[in-house]
Amino acid sequence: MKRIEFHNREPETKEIRNILDAEPSLITFIYGPINSGKTTLVNHLIGQLPDEYVPFYVNLRGRFITGYEDFLNVLFEIDEGGVIDNVSEYAQSLIKDLKILSGIPIPLNLFEQIFEKKDKSKDMFKYIERFLDEMSKKRVPVLIIDELQVIGDLKINGLLIYKLFNFFIRLTKEKHLAHVFVVTSDSLFIEQVYSEAMLSGRSRHILVDDFDYATTMDFLDKYGFSHEEKELAWEYCGGKPVYLMELIHTKISDENIEEKVHEMFEVRKSQIRMVINELRLIGDELEYKGKKIEITEERVIDALNSLLNTEYNSYEMASIEEIYLVKKNILFVDAISGVLKPQSKLDLLAVREVVGNA
Ligand SMILES: Nc1ncnc2c1ncn2[C@@H]1O[C@H](COP(=O)(O)OP(=O)(O)OP(=O)(O)O)[C@@H](O)[C@H]1O
Ligand SMILES: [Mg+2]
Repeated sequence: MKRIEFHNREPETKEIRNILDAEPSLITFIYGPINSGKTTLVNHLIGQLPDEYVPFYVNLRGRFITGYEDFLNVLFEIDEGGVIDNVSEYAQSLIKDLKILSGIPIPLNLFEQIFEKKDKSKDMFKYIERFLDEMSKKRVPVLIIDELQVIGDLKINGLLIYKLFNFFIRLTKEKHLAHVFVVTSDSLFIEQVYSEAMLSGRSRHILVDDFDYATTMDFLDKYGFSHEEKELAWEYCGGKPVYLMELIHTKISDENIEEKVHEMFEVRKSQIRMVINELRLIGDELEYKGKKIEITEERVIDALNSLLNTEYNSYEMASIEEIYLVKKNILFVDAISGVLKPQSKLDLLAVREVVGNA
């Protein structure tokens, strides 16, 4: 199968490069609608970093994390190469050869020590800090956690996420030891983070949205789309990379783009209909800010109806049904610019047809 090349993310790349050029001082949150290309961008970037940087990329997606033990297993890369007690010497021995890592290296014996401790978090953070401190004498550590919301509710002597945020603040603003990036596709998580007092003045946010019109056209041009095919793609899929990839594969296999677009549209409509049908048949509840709220089909349809005439709504005015639709991945909330909008162009059109015909 032909590989599809990474496509232009210049503004976002520039913004992140500027951050990396400066001394670490804030936690950077990278957010955006589902499938907008956040993970791809970050991976592309770290693949191109000069040797001066050491990226640690930890992805929590699909990881089953129910306690500290699971978290430690994801966060660390265990090194079984013998007994080592001196963290500084260990870090020094690795400095030269480290490439991209999917966890913080730790000798097995030290990992086991942390496991045995009662207050694991204290020791875990102490180890990472010492390790990064040593690394930072020669290279610039870049810590990236993808899908951090996975541990958003994990409680072990209080919420783990707060301890992590405190630790990230220490690594950035206080000690300037490492760059910290948190990537997430959960827009309600970003909304929480944004209003979190402890992060105020200590974090920044970068939106990675679907491609704009010009970037989408350029992308499709590379694969020989006709003018009509490009316009059709934009009309239905907007600049959502994952959908464009599907269309590019269709094009490469010499199949019909129009049929593919309609197939994707039908699939999305039926998924949205299923959400509504389920509400009608069994109803649902939403737990939001500690309260359980009943969700009704009628009010969800009312909320969707508001998309018949507009593509955007103000987030400040969001109803509980709209929050529910965010949870169902139909709407996306951008708490930073205060906008509530469909997750994609396809969602917008599908919603319009589903409720318009209801
Ligand atoms: N800049 C790009 N150039 C080419 N393809 C891209 C680009 N960005 C994303 N894609 C493709 O789009 C798909 C979705 O991208 P990716 O998984 O990075 O999105 P995401 O925003 O991290 O998604 P999620 O919200 O699920 O975390 C991938 O298959 C990827 O190959
Ligand atoms: Mg991702």
